[in-house]
Amino acid sequence: MAARVLVAYTSKKGSTAGIAEAVAKELKARGLVVEVSTMETVTSLAAYDAVVLGVPVYTGRIMSPLALFVARHRDALGKLPVAAFAAGIAPVFPKTGEVSQFTDQLSTALQPVRPVSVTMFAGRLDPKNLSFVERGLTALLKVPTGDFRDWKAIAAWAAELPAKMGLSGRQQA
Ligand SMILES: Cc1cc2nc3c(=O)[nH]c(=O)nc-3n(C[C@H](O)[C@H](O)[C@H](O)COP(=O)(O)O)c2cc1C
Repeated sequence: MAARVLVAYTSKKGSTAGIAEAVAKELKARGLVVEVSTMETVTSLAAYDAVVLGVPVYTGRIMSPLALFVARHRDALGKLPVAAFAAGIAPVFPKTGEVSQFTDQLSTALQPVRPVSVTMFAGRLDPKNLSFVERGLTALLKVPTGDFRDWKAIAAWAAELPAKMGLSGRQQA
């Protein structure tokens, strides 16, 4: 039977959701059964063989729903292969933080779970989507705006997960 994977994310302005969907698409193409859901709505991990978690970074911190998710599902996560990604501007604009700082935050938030892979992808900063305060903050730091999501890098990371997680997909007819 094909392995079942949950891609659970949290997102304030939608760009991490888009990355989660791209990860799911790649896993599906490898014959896995994949569900995508916001972290906040997941009640149980009993139906899954593996979990991928995605979280954006705001003002130097990965978003807090991840810590709540880990606390709520700690026992189940300890028994499943887990991978995680952060999304933010740091990969294209290091003034907003070192990538390693955020991947370390991810690993720490997941403890004692030891993920098979942790990474950070460039996200999207859409000026139309920012509040007055956010616009001021990003203008002050001269943060570049645009969609920096690298779909090839995202697909390449996802493509390696089945092997790293020890998952097998549906057999091709
Ligand atoms: C107010 C604000 C603060 C941000 N702070 C950071 C930061 O400290 N480091 C970083 O890498 N990205 C930062 N970002 C960029 C977001 O992480 C990026 O836009 C991400 O793609 C947002 O994900 P979402 O669309 O799923 O909410 C910030 C964005 C905003 C609007």
